[in-house]
Amino acid sequence: MESCGTAVSCMAAAFLLLLLGLLSSMAQQNELQTGVAGGEVTLNCTGILPDSKLSQDTVVTWKYYDTLLCRIEKRNYWKTPAFIRGGFDIKAPYKQLWMQNLKLSDAGIYTCEYSSHKVRTSLHVFKLTISLDGHFLQNEVPELILMQNSSSPLPDLNIALFDSNNNRVTPELQNKSRQKYIVNLRKLEAMDSGTWVCQVHSDSPLIKQNISFAVKVLGFQNPVLERKYVTVDSTVILSWHLNSQKIRWRKGFTGQLNWKQQESANAHELLNFSVPAQGELLETKKSSIFLFEIPERKPESTIEVRLPKVHFNHSGQYQCQLEYQGRHAQSQIELVVMKVSANPVGPLSRGANMTLTCQVSRPLPPNAYLRWERVNGTKMDIKSSKQREVKLEVNISAAGLWSCHLIEDSERKISLHYHVATGKKDGTSKTTLAGKQDVSVSTVSGHEGTQNEQRLLSREELDD
Ligand SMILES: *[C@@H]1O[C@H](CO)[C@@H](O)[C@H](O)[C@H]1NC(C)=O
Ligand SMILES: *[C@@H]1O[C@H](CO)[C@@H](O)[C@H](O)[C@H]1NC(C)=O
Ligand SMILES: *[C@@H]1O[C@H](CO)[C@@H](O)[C@H](O)[C@H]1NC(C)=O
Ligand SMILES: *[C@@H]1O[C@H](CO)[C@@H](O)[C@H](O)[C@H]1NC(C)=O
Ligand SMILES: *[C@@H]1O[C@H](CO)[C@@H](O)[C@H](O)[C@H]1NC(C)=O
Ligand SMILES: *[C@@H]1O[C@H](CO)[C@@H](O)[C@H](O)[C@H]1NC(C)=O
Ligand SMILES: *[C@@H]1O[C@H](CO)[C@@H](O)[C@H](O)[C@H]1NC(C)=O
Ligand SMILES: *[C@@H]1O[C@H](CO)[C@@H](O)[C@H](O)[C@H]1NC(C)=O
Ligand SMILES: *[C@@H]1O[C@H](CO)[C@@H](O)[C@H](O)[C@H]1NC(C)=O
Repeated sequence: MESCGTAVSCMAAAFLLLLLGLLSSMAQQNELQTGVAGGEVTLNCTGILPDSKLSQDTVVTWKYYDTLLCRIEKRNYWKTPAFIRGGFDIKAPYKQLWMQNLKLSDAGIYTCEYSSHKVRTSLHVFKLTISLDGHFLQNEVPELILMQNSSSPLPDLNIALFDSNNNRVTPELQNKSRQKYIVNLRKLEAMDSGTWVCQVHSDSPLIKQNISFAVKVLGFQNPVLERKYVTVDSTVILSWHLNSQKIRWRKGFTGQLNWKQQESANAHELLNFSVPAQGELLETKKSSIFLFEIPERKPESTIEVRLPKVHFNHSGQYQCQLEYQGRHAQSQIELVVMKVSANPVGPLSRGANMTLTCQVSRPLPPNAYLRWERVNGTKMDIKSSKQREVKLEVNISAAGLWSCHLIEDSERKISLHYHVATGKKDGTSKTTLAGKQDVSVSTVSGHEGTQNEQRLLSREELDD
């Protein structure tokens, strides 16, 4: 200003300047910032110029309520014991206050002052804890506890949860106060392992905070209940795939494989295993109740038994159970064995008949049944079992190749064949035992096992 035209205008200008100064000395900005316990947060000193543009004599201070944390003068930092204890730091060039490893008690008012500016930030802290340290077995239900702390009245929170596949999960609110929300998630499955997100929302003050948390669910990659159909004398491999490697489960656990012929029967421990925190699966064979092997070469993290020539009476429930910190999870394979027989065994004389029997070791589910049919035969040669029937008999008077199929959901799961030959008219027929499983049938067994099929190898010429 060169000069003032009149005293009055000079006075007015001075007054205006004074007023502006007063106003600016009261310039206060209010901010809200959210943070998550265990995480870090950077509080802005909003509006401040970077170091290079800040005049040399600017003094910047950070306070927590009235406690001075640090004072920055001519680019020298003067840190208080509270600053050092709190593990704070200052980020150049905008002199933001950086806080790490947040705690609920870090909530409150943080003030940055420079020149005549005052930036007041209310830090709102959330803390999410998950039961059992986030380590679950399949079928367990985790509990989440969300806590909040702030200098202002605590808002009513809306909580949404998203599983590791980003599907929304509706939690069951167990108990709630403004400070603490307790929710139960749903029963976990092995494939729920991964990063989940808790989305916290409030309208006033406006808060949108995502908190992610890790969930590990130790379990089996098998379906909950597997049913396996096999033909007698075939080679059967039963496998349970643990997901411990897939989810990088780093804690030790143990387990065992049990066999029970019937629901009511005693369980026999076939093997036990242990998986150390860092290491390979170790197994010990515990039973010799029947012949089975533990294959040497098999996929990692797999419990497996091989029954080289399965007997009809080896059917039943094979249950693999794992144990971690006194808690248990299991997966079961129900083994159903099928056999065929004939009475008399044959051959079939002209005008005579014989009974073919097809039998399964356990009742079939409602969507499955047995069916006898003659290959290249007529519709008259087809007979199906009724629901829950474990045995299907046909009286036949026609020779040829007879097949018994186990059909589930219109799909042939396994088949056994019986070759019925005709006898010589003089009655001195050679014995044709084709179809007697232990004599002339060979076994073809798929690893997956549901499509095992016994095939007739020795096929004899029909005499007539
Ligand atoms: C803090 O300041 C930086 C840089 O100006 C900006 O990008 C960021 O969004 C600010 N953070 C908050 C929480 O206001
Ligand atoms: C909440 O924060 C205040 C400081 O603002 C602190 O005194 C209090 O202990 C905190 N509450 C909890 C539960 O940590
Ligand atoms: C909810 O929590 C409060 C305080 O922690 C407790 O007094 C109350 O019994 C709990 N209610 C239920 C249903 O768990
Ligand atoms: C929070 O998480 C949800 C679900 O994963 C996502 O849709 C949303 O974009 C996230 N919001 C923020 C601010 O990251
Ligand atoms: C199996 O159980 C026995 C005790 O019955 C134990 O000594 C052994 O270490 C177990 N084996 C494994 C592989 O866990
Ligand atoms: C199963 O049957 C076979 C003969 O078919 C017999 O040798 C074996 O002892 C039986 N096993 C069991 C466990 O009953
Ligand atoms: C089967 O043969 C027996 C005698 O060998 C006879 O009594 C019976 O009627 C025959 N059944 C059929 C269905 O042909
Ligand atoms: C069924 O018929 C086909 C075609 O006619 C023939 O090739 C096959 O050998 C017959 N099978 C039996 C078991 O008769
Ligand atoms: C088969 O024949 C026998 C006697 O020959 C008879 O006892 C039996 O009931 C018959 N079975 C069927 C399914 O017809």
